[in-house]
Amino acid sequence: MKTFHSHVSTSIFIFIFSVFYSFHSVLAIDTITSTQSLTINKTLVSNGEVFELGFFDPGNGNLYIGIWYKQIQQKTYVWVANRDTAINSSTGNLTITDNGNMVLVDEAGAVAWSSDDSDQSTQVVNTVAQLLDNGNFVLRPQNDQNPENYIWQSFDYPTDTLLPEMKLGWDKKSGIHRFLRPWKTNNDPGTGDYSFKMTINGFPEILLSHNETKTWRTGAWNGKMFSGVPVMKGVSIMQFEFRDTSDEISYSFKMLNSSVHSRLVINSSGINQRYVWLETTKAWNVFWTFPVDFCDHFETCGPFGICDANAAPICKCTTGFRPKNKHAWDLRDGSDGCERSSKLDCGSDGFLRMKNMKLPESSKAFVDRKMNLSECGAICKRNCSCAAYANMNITEGGSGCVIWEVDLIDMRQYAESEDGGQDLYVRVAASDLDKPPMTGNTKNSSGNGSKVGRVVGISISACGVVIFLLILYFYLRKKKKAQTLKRSSIRKERTEDVILKDGVILPSRRDYHGDTVMDELELPLFDFTTLAIATNNFSDTNKLGQGGFGCVYKGTLMEGEVVAVKRLSRVCEQGIEELKNEVRLIAKLQHRNLVRVLGCCIEVEEKLLVYEFMENKSLDMFLFEKEKSMKLNWKIRISIIRGCARGLLYLHQDSRFKIIHRDMKASNILLDKEMQPKISDFGIARIFGSDQTEAETKIVVGTYGYMSPEYAMEGHFSTKSDVFSFGVLILEIISGKRNRGSYNTSNNLNLLGQAWTLWNEGNALQLVDYALGDRFSKNEVLRCIQVGLLCVQGQPEDRPSMSKVVLLLSSETVRMPQPKHPGLFTRKTDNETVSPSIVDDNMTINGITLTILDGR
Ligand SMILES: *[C@@H]1O[C@H](CO)[C@@H](O)[C@H](O)[C@H]1NC(C)=O
Ligand SMILES: *[C@@H]1O[C@H](CO)[C@@H](O)[C@H](O)[C@H]1NC(C)=O
Ligand SMILES: *[C@@H]1O[C@H](CO)[C@@H](O)[C@H](O)[C@H]1NC(C)=O
Ligand SMILES: *[C@@H]1O[C@H](CO)[C@@H](O)[C@H](O)[C@H]1NC(C)=O
Repeated sequence: MKTFHSHVSTSIFIFIFSVFYSFHSVLAIDTITSTQSLTINKTLVSNGEVFELGFFDPGNGNLYIGIWYKQIQQKTYVWVANRDTAINSSTGNLTITDNGNMVLVDEAGAVAWSSDDSDQSTQVVNTVAQLLDNGNFVLRPQNDQNPENYIWQSFDYPTDTLLPEMKLGWDKKSGIHRFLRPWKTNNDPGTGDYSFKMTINGFPEILLSHNETKTWRTGAWNGKMFSGVPVMKGVSIMQFEFRDTSDEISYSFKMLNSSVHSRLVINSSGINQRYVWLETTKAWNVFWTFPVDFCDHFETCGPFGICDANAAPICKCTTGFRPKNKHAWDLRDGSDGCERSSKLDCGSDGFLRMKNMKLPESSKAFVDRKMNLSECGAICKRNCSCAAYANMNITEGGSGCVIWEVDLIDMRQYAESEDGGQDLYVRVAASDLDKPPMTGNTKNSSGNGSKVGRVVGISISACGVVIFLLILYFYLRKKKKAQTLKRSSIRKERTEDVILKDGVILPSRRDYHGDTVMDELELPLFDFTTLAIATNNFSDTNKLGQGGFGCVYKGTLMEGEVVAVKRLSRVCEQGIEELKNEVRLIAKLQHRNLVRVLGCCIEVEEKLLVYEFMENKSLDMFLFEKEKSMKLNWKIRISIIRGCARGLLYLHQDSRFKIIHRDMKASNILLDKEMQPKISDFGIARIFGSDQTEAETKIVVGTYGYMSPEYAMEGHFSTKSDVFSFGVLILEIISGKRNRGSYNTSNNLNLLGQAWTLWNEGNALQLVDYALGDRFSKNEVLRCIQVGLLCVQGQPEDRPSMSKVVLLLSSETVRMPQPKHPGLFTRKTDNETVSPSIVDDNMTINGITLTILDGR
């Protein structure tokens, strides 16, 4: 308490002091608040005086904000804020803005750096920025020290240095991928060409790359160390930690004596070094350096080649393999690697146990944490494409299983005395197993060939028994699984029966129910991790919108393709059925006015759909926004109307099924680069038997303002209820107004009412959006209004079919009937029948989606 008080009073004193004398003073405080700022001659010092933060010039005449060790004379920068956006004026100013973010501005007031790199600003007022004793510079709510609540922290944006407690790797919750990039040169902290980055596919490891070229990899974590970093063993001053959980994949270290400093750095020539500070000599001592030798350079010995730094030549082929390019090999160029000398025969092949191996490149490896080594071996043996296997974790007798079904790349073998790496079992032909290990340069560990032979022999016969048992096990398991599957599809059928009683009819359900359909889907499956990475872990920045049963995110796949990813809200049980429905429908539909689905991901916890990305988002964003609606000239509007009509016609008639969309509205019309419309969101669509025209439901799902009266009030839906919604859409496109909310206060009419009144008064053109001015064809507009009114007529049987609508819209000559009274839908009656208990209260922007549960 006392220290707290004295600390506060010192800070206050110093703050006051610094306000009055804001030149060359060291703020002996670790925090800036929203009323303070950090300028050129001031620094922040962490509470225990371990780290200092301030402006510095690395010798290139520019100013940066960085962090260095307070007590170490030779400036050692561990972090730089604006590494690529240097200030080249003589002063800068770091402050906290009104919305709680940190910004760095130059003399002219231009922003050089900000802690907020997203479009949406963090809206936390009263934040403070604090430099902690571990070197982390954090932005947090003023009275909240909880690390979980940091709004921003420098540890999430490493420069070239990994400090104790800092994590390198991927945080799956926040989507932040932390990795090191060196300085450009020794006096330019700008981002250099190398990266030191955790791979997150297969069996994770850390990869050093020059631009995109791999130069060194640590090898995967084997429970004790990275399999290619044997020097991690026997380190007594620090502890290494590797986490691979559902929340993160990360590597970090911590010092056992916190007054000893250590840091891991990548320098601009791509050298990874760990240093420790020696108090005695007042110098940084190199603890280790990587890459160490030729064998560390990525793929020195090519596929299946094994690098042995203690041998000459360094590349070798193991038993059962021979150099692929003998000539180059003799010239000591091993980069072509090795090839098999005998043909494999899947059934009888054996496995060669190789000791002290740095495991092959493993981004495509298959891993299973639960299997033990013999199960792993049995799986590998059964699968003819399996080239090798190993334990994931070598502590406590070994556990987990890694399987490679690709060429084995970048292997190296350590000498027994180095005690690096681990056992790797490589598939070889049975005939090769009996042969002695290959000539010359194979360092046959103990020099006792027969011992190796014996071990192999024993493991083969033991394997035989194990394999027999396993085959039995898998046979039984498969049988059991088949039964479970059957059971679940029976259960499924029953749920659909219930729905049937409720009136949502799926007459074609024999073909299209449940798992059968999911099996039939010829839709690419994405794995969740891929989609999480693509969307920056579903960050808010990537959010495109919220719609039926989930959020939609923009994503960029590894290959650079931009997609939209719809993630179903986990809470919404109903959503899963909706998704299956959507998947099974949309997978079979192809039309240029329907959004194309590129794949899906259906995992236990997660259901996602991947769509083509639509550059121009949705129609409502243009139509109902003053500025943007100017861009929708009449030509575009009519082409949108016609496109939607064709898309809907396809759904109703031309596809193999009869599909009622049930939620046609502006926000479900997406626009591509050329402003061509595509209908999306089949979440609540229903397949109809082609002979069926109408159905009933107690569960009315749709959007207020677009629902036909018979659907909203009685739950009847048919293609004609879609036609009604389409009519509303036409009138909205022409008027630029929403049907709901556009009540004319004096006569209490909604858009349909207004259109009807104006039409009867002969003033229909008054409906046209002001944004169009007079730049439109009067004939076309009138025709569209008339079609719109025909579509929204009160009686379903009076409304035209979509094929008629398409015809009316495209022809100037077809005679059109006079519309009858529209299905007016005034607010008063709604309140009686429509309970606004919301299915999806997320859809606030685009109109309210309502559910009427048991409308009667
Ligand atoms: C730094 O910025 C803050 C906030 O904009 C301002 O109050 C302060 O005067 C600036 N300091 C200097 C030295 O320019
Ligand atoms: C921790 O390190 C400091 C500085 O290197 C040393 O003086 C101190 O004795 C160490 N403490 C322990 C408990 O080893
Ligand atoms: C990077 O570190 C290595 C090893 O200490 C050194 O030889 C090399 O010169 C360094 N590169 C630069 C650009 O300082
Ligand atoms: C086995 O082989 C097939 C292809 O031949 C592959 O798709 C499958 O994933 C393999 N791996 C395992 C571990 O079953």
